[in-house]
Amino acid sequence: MFLSTNHQPQILPRESYCSEEVLQTEIDILFQPSWHAVGLKSELPKDGSYVTFDLFGRPIILWQSDGEVHCFLNVCSHRYCKVRSEDCGTMERLRCQYHGWQFDSTGNVRKIPDAKTFRPLEQGMLGLKKYRAETCGELIFINLTDEGPSLRDFLGDMYETYQEWFSPEMHTAIVMNRTINANWKCLVENALESYHTSEVHPNTFGESPPEEDCQHVLEDRRSALTVDFSQEKSFRATLDKFGHWLVGYQRNPEYRHIAHFPNVMVAHLSLYRWVECVIPVSADRSISIIRLMCHVGKKNSLRRIWNKYLISRWAKTFLCQVGAEDARVLQEVQPGLSTSDQPKGGLISTREERVSHFQHYVDQALKSQPHNHQRNTIPIRYQGKTS
Ligand code: FES
Ligand SMILES: [Fe+2]
Repeated sequence: MFLSTNHQPQILPRESYCSEEVLQTEIDILFQPSWHAVGLKSELPKDGSYVTFDLFGRPIILWQSDGEVHCFLNVCSHRYCKVRSEDCGTMERLRCQYHGWQFDSTGNVRKIPDAKTFRPLEQGMLGLKKYRAETCGELIFINLTDEGPSLRDFLGDMYETYQEWFSPEMHTAIVMNRTINANWKCLVENALESYHTSEVHPNTFGESPPEEDCQHVLEDRRSALTVDFSQEKSFRATLDKFGHWLVGYQRNPEYRHIAHFPNVMVAHLSLYRWVECVIPVSADRSISIIRLMCHVGKKNSLRRIWNKYLISRWAKTFLCQVGAEDARVLQEVQPGLSTSDQPKGGLISTREERVSHFQHYVDQALKSQPHNHQRNTIPIRYQGKTS
């Protein structure tokens, strides 16, 4: 059942979806202190593996060493070249592509070719800028500030649950970064409501679930939806039962979706679980970082090989189609938000109450913190593998 009984007005003004100045304030106040789900451990398969991408104007490198994930600014402390330019690779020690300086897992310089020409140089004088990186199960999160809550505090009582959901026995089915021409809040709001499914996803999700099967939880900086679909008698439900039989896993006909404001969302089905992290690129362009894991059966079982192919293939087809359907309609929302005349309306239904709750969080968070626009003037952009 929904918690509210009346519709809500659109809380955020349309300008807040179109203004670069508002976005810069949001970056400074909402995003900088927060944790971002940027990948899975399987993307760093062995010691020395690294991946690179840009986040809010910073080239970032994630590197695994001694089984731990480290996050650095991908800029060399010699003369500021990007240490690595490849999307991914493997290196025992991080070595800058320009003059070959080498760095260890603390970011300290370990080797400088022709070091005597740099004298006097003290040990530890130069190094890579390091950011916080933490994992929860297979999920990798990074935080661009030194202070602030730990990942455990950020995820709250879901921390242990996510460790279980994203356990090492899960198979990585999708690694996808999708660019969408819409403000980041449109992407989050789209994921917070099921009202659009009948119209936008008629052949994938189909009808929105009935109210009596939905349960909303609205909390400080977080909201959740649980859908009980035990009564569903569709082809999709039959397929789901078949998938569980293939994998040999007990079916739980329940869908859970949790949003950690501002930009991390986690969803769970008994065979699948996925994480989405929305990163703004500009006021009208965003990246959705999506990672999906699925059950494929017990380790070393023969079925696992077949299931990996079958189940991940089905998940890829399904999620890619759903993602494309959402992207298409979101690109039609952005011009409506930036039209010069004030349109009528701006209404949010009780089914969409998680959207109101999210807008209320953004509104209050921006109002409660005095902002100095001089603090961060780096133009934001995200680069990396996108599709
Ligand atoms: S810029 Fe990296 S070694 Fe010179
Ligand atoms: Fe959707």
